[in-house]
Amino acid sequence: MIVVTGATGNVGRPLVAALAAAGAQVTAVSRSKPAEWPSGIAHRRADLAEPEGLRPVLDGADALFLFPQGPADALVDVAKAGGVRRIVLLSSQGAGTRPGAYAHFAGFERAVRNSGLAWTVLRPGGFATNTLAWQESIRVNWTAAAPFGDVALPFVDPADVAEVAAKVLLGDGHAGRVYELTGPAPLTPRERAHAIGEALGVAVRFLDQSPADARAEMAAQVPGPIADATLAVLGDPLPAERRVSPDVERILGRPARSFAEWAARSAAAFE
Ligand SMILES: NC(=O)c1ccc[n+]([C@@H]2O[C@H](COP(=O)([O-])OP(=O)(O)OC[C@H]3O[C@@H](n4cnc5c(N)ncnc54)[C@H](OP(=O)(O)O)[C@@H]3O)[C@@H](O)[C@H]2O)c1
Repeated sequence: MIVVTGATGNVGRPLVAALAAAGAQVTAVSRSKPAEWPSGIAHRRADLAEPEGLRPVLDGADALFLFPQGPADALVDVAKAGGVRRIVLLSSQGAGTRPGAYAHFAGFERAVRNSGLAWTVLRPGGFATNTLAWQESIRVNWTAAAPFGDVALPFVDPADVAEVAAKVLLGDGHAGRVYELTGPAPLTPRERAHAIGEALGVAVRFLDQSPADARAEMAAQVPGPIADATLAVLGDPLPAERRVSPDVERILGRPARSFAEWAARSAAAFE
C-alpha cells in the first residue's frame, strides 16, 4: 500500500490518480476531504503536524510520498515503525540552490537521507500553478501583474512532478537519487501571461508590479524570509535556477509539459 500525503494538492491529486490507474493500492491523506473525491480511492484525514495521528494510516504501508509539512524526523520515524520501506520526498529546488533560505526543505531532505529507507528526493522549481494567483485579475479585467516581467524561469507542470513521483514509487532504480524537476523552457512572467491569454482566446495585459508590492502580497501567505527568498529567485535567479533540467524527460521518456500545455488544460480556472 502506498500512502500519499498532500493528496488533494496540485501534485497529490494527479499522483493519487496515476497510482490508482496503475492498479496500486493507495491511501490519500490530507486534513480535509474534498466534497468531490473519487469513489474507490481510500482517503484518511490526518495532520502532518501531529505525526502520532499518522501512525494508524502508515501501519502496513510499503511506501510513502511525503509532503514537506510538520516535524520531519518524527514523521520519518512513524513511517519506519509502520513498515514503510520506500519514501519519496516532495522537496524544492531551493534546498539545493539556497539551502540557508530553504532550510525547512533541507531539514526534510536530511531526515529522509538518514532514514535508512530507500529514499528519493524530488526538487521541483517554480510550479506553473503559481500563476493561478492571476485568476481573479484575469477574470475581472484581463490583467496579470508580477515583478521581474522579463526574467525567465522554467516553471514545471505539477502534473509532471506527480508523474515522476508515480514512476519512482512504482519502479526500481531511483533509491538514493535527487531529481531536479523543471519545465522544458524558461519563460518570463510576461510570456506566461501571454500564454494564458492564448489559451483563453483573449489578450491578457501584463502589468509590471514593484518588488515591494509583490513582497507585501506574498508575506500575507508565507513567512517573510520565504517571501524574500522567492523574490530573489524570481528577480535574480542563479544559473542553476535558470537551467532546464533533463530529469523529467529522462524519467518519463518524453519531454516535460510546456507552460502552454498547462495553460490550455487550466484555462477554465481563469474564466
Ligand atoms: N509552488 C511552487 O512553486 C513550489 C516549488 C517547489 C516546491 N514546492 C513545494 O510543493 C509543495 C506544494 O505542493 P502542492 O502545490 O501540491 O500543494 P497544494 O496544492 O498547496 O496542496 C497542499 C496539500 O497538502 C495538504 N496539507 C497541507 N498541510 C497539511 C498538513 N499540515 N497535514 C496534512 N496535509 C496537509 C493539503 O490538504 P489540506 O489543506 O486539506 O490538509 C493539500 O492536499 C510545498 O511544500 C511547496 O513548498 C512548491
